[in-house]
Parts: sequence; structure tokens; C-alpha cells
Amino acid sequence: MNRTLELIEKRRSIRLFDSTPLAQHEKEAILHAALRAPTAGAMMLYTIIEVNDPHKKAILAETCDHQAFIASAPYLLLFLADYQRWMDLYEAAGCAARAAELDRQTRTPAEGDLFLALMDALIAAQTAVIAAESLGIGSCYIGDIIENWEQHRELFNLPRYTFPAVLLCFGRPKRAPLGNPVPRFDPKFIVHQDVYRRFSAEELNDMHLPFGQPSFEPKEYPNGAQNVVQANYLRKFIADFSFEMTRSAREMLKNWLEDR
Ligand SMILES: Cc1cc2nc3c(=O)[nH]c(=O)nc-3n(C[C@H](O)[C@H](O)[C@H](O)COP(=O)(O)O)c2cc1C
Repeated sequence: MNRTLELIEKRRSIRLFDSTPLAQHEKEAILHAALRAPTAGAMMLYTIIEVNDPHKKAILAETCDHQAFIASAPYLLLFLADYQRWMDLYEAAGCAARAAELDRQTRTPAEGDLFLALMDALIAAQTAVIAAESLGIGSCYIGDIIENWEQHRELFNLPRYTFPAVLLCFGRPKRAPLGNPVPRFDPKFIVHQDVYRRFSAEELNDMHLPFGQPSFEPKEYPNGAQNVVQANYLRKFIADFSFEMTRSAREMLKNWLEDR
């Protein structure tokens, strides 16, 4: 295994940080790597906000499903999908007027633009994660940043054509993570050949074997779940945060897409 593959193999999400701040040169190296990530049309359809204000960090620790460790992360980066900068640029360059003179149809950012910008933002984020790891700096993604969109819009002064793609916590691990690495499902469930294939219930029973038991093995879990899959469903899929995530993302989409 070469050093890059080893780094990827050993990476773990880090949620307990040493309080030492990152050095300026470390932050610069992480950001530089993120900005070197592949980007659709070389347009860099994202913005990165360094969240330094402890008050804002404390708010995020609440609004992102009450995860206190967010406030203790020495370095916090918010990755936004961003079409606003390009729309402002198009306007400043007189693009719509020129299109009208050429009798060309114009448009505003739509679903495809948002998805592309999200791809850009997430690819930059993961590049930052790997760069940080190479410097001995751990990280943890916070997907809950897509909740409470209205509050985050206010907190970061977000214009219309932006959307929080992901929040990343960085810091030196306070100690080596306890326990075994989180397993992954067998590649046969994830990597398909040429076409998508759905699995039978019998096949799916094996999906949780890397986690120590068949998927449907009867076992008592919190909240009345009777197997590991029910536990996931109750803890994740129908948890309060999932309903909030759906509400928030829907509001944001309305804002991005509605005709004005
Ligand atoms: C899109 C995304 C969102 C995530 N959101 C959270 C989160 O809100 N809180 C958290 O503690 N971990 C979060 N994680 C980290 C995952 O829980 C973690 O990657 C997973 O359990 C596998 O563990 P590992 O990264 O140590 O291999 C997120 C990861 C991803 C990729």
C-alpha cells in the first residue's frame, strides 16, 4: 500500500479535538488543496467560509442537531454551493443584455446548476479532508448543516444562489479514536457491474455482517427496535433531525427555484 492509500485507509472521523489552534501555514495548506480540487468547467462553483467567531461556532453546535463538539473544533469550514458569485459576474459583464441582442433565451440558476455546485463544493471539501489528514489533522463532516437553513442564511448573510453543502470540523485528535474503525459494507453491495441491481431480502440479510450480525437478526435496541436495521430507521431515517433536514432543504429549494 502506498502512502496515499495508507492515509485513506487509516482516516477516521475525529470528534474529540486537542484545543491547540491550527497554524496559519496548516490552514493555508488545507485551503490550497481544496481549491486545487477538480471543479466543473473550472468555475469553482463554491465558497468556503472560515468560521472563527466562537459565538457562531456555538450557534452551529445547536442548529446542527445539538452536536456540542462542533463548538470545540479549532478550525471550522463551511462549504457552500455557490452560483451567486457567477450570477453577479454575469450581470457585471452585461451577459443577459448581450444574450437579448443576440436573440438568445436566458435563464436563472436551476436544479442542474445547484447539483453541479454541490458536487464542486463536496469535492473541494473531501480534498481538504485528505490534505488535513496528511498533516496529522483530523476532521469530521457535519451533514446537519442542511437543517435550519433560515438561521444559517441569517448567520452567514447567505445570498439567494448559495446553499450550505457541508460543514467540516478540523483539529488534532485529542487521543487516538477508541474502538475499531467503522466497518464498511461488502463491496458487492456497493459496486455494480454495468447496470444497477436490487438485492433480495435474503441477500440483504448479509449486508450487516461486517457490523457483527446479520441484518435481520433479532436483538433488542433502544427505542424498541428489534434488529439493527430497525435501529437505524428509528435513530436516523425517521428521527426529528431527518424531518427538519427535509423541511429546511425544501425551503431552500423553493427559494433557489421560485420565479420572482
Ligand atoms: C455527508 C456526511 C455527513 C456526516 N455528518 C455527520 C454529523 O453530522 N455528525 C457526526 O458526528 N459525523 C458525521 N459524519 C461522519 C460519519 O458519521 C462517519 O464518516 C461514518 O460514521 C464513518 O466513520 P469514519 O469516517 O470514521 O470512517 C458525516 C459524514 C458524511 C460523509
